[in-house]
Amino acid sequence: MDKKIVLSGIRATGKLHLGNYLGAMKYFVQLSEDKHKQCFFFIANLHTLTTRMDPRDIVRDLKEIVLTYISIGINPESSVIFAQSSVPETSELNWLLACLTSVAELEKMPHFKEKKDMKEVLHETVNVGLLTYPVLMAADILGPLANMVPVGEDQHPHVELTRDIARRFNILYGDTFPVPELLEGEAIRVPGLDGKGKMGKSNQNTIDLMDSPGEVLKKISRAVTDTARVRRSDTGNPFNCSLYALHQLLSADAELKDVHAGCASAKMGCVDCKKILVKNINQLLAPIQAKRFELNEKGSKYAIEILHEGGKRARKRIAVTVENVKEKMGVPLY
Ligand code: TRP
Repeated sequence: MDKKIVLSGIRATGKLHLGNYLGAMKYFVQLSEDKHKQCFFFIANLHTLTTRMDPRDIVRDLKEIVLTYISIGINPESSVIFAQSSVPETSELNWLLACLTSVAELEKMPHFKEKKDMKEVLHETVNVGLLTYPVLMAADILGPLANMVPVGEDQHPHVELTRDIARRFNILYGDTFPVPELLEGEAIRVPGLDGKGKMGKSNQNTIDLMDSPGEVLKKISRAVTDTARVRRSDTGNPFNCSLYALHQLLSADAELKDVHAGCASAKMGCVDCKKILVKNINQLLAPIQAKRFELNEKGSKYAIEILHEGGKRARKRIAVTVENVKEKMGVPLY
């Protein structure tokens, strides 16, 4: 039986946080252990260029993500770990697919609309890369002929567009791409510590995977809870509390019940509820950080080795698709 191809990527920007982990990376590990699946995990360092960064930071973050992939338990031999920039054919496919995608479709994408609607952002300063971001993502996914794409909720519109592009191509040029599945059941929204929205680097409301126990304590102590619960004696509504949402993702059933009942009856205060959460976060992070620390010895050389090997393996597969696509579209390599 042919193995199902699983593909997912993470942008190389800054530190990875609990939102990245609980929303997506945790499932990467489970998927990578399934013998019936072949996983490709990459670092979307070309996508990073849409928010221009210092090149040294891009390289630093890229290697850090590779080492984090390993630290959370992905085996670089059974899974292919690679950098987007190691596969030039993906950029070629990006162009080919761009010619099958309308501007209207791209303008409708939430990530683009958000940027454009931000009052302080002038239309003139929004780069083309930001508009065509989802096309490159479609090329990432369709290049290796992926069957499954595990991603956080915010990326779902992009994968939907990829599915449309795949169907469109198949109709126009004959069956070529599998229409990739979203793994919808696992759509998880990880709330931020500010009680306002999802956890995200740009919102400065994250717990980073490498935060020390002390930092975790500090961040959670300051985090916003149910704002309607003003006094300790007030009862709270756990469902209006982003920390309860984190509890739901992290804490054992018995603790979750206690926290819920304690908050709703005012028997437990936010301080005690936070203590339990801090303990559970630190318990989750400890083995990841220990493994990451262990890798310090092999360091960035090890990350480069993995990228080199993974790049070769990914490129081999993707190049075949792109050659086929060019042939079908009437623009072969003469
Ligand atoms: N846009 C994704 C993110 O910001 C990263 C990404 C790029 C990706 N290409 C992809 C994810 C292809 C899955 C598949 O998280």
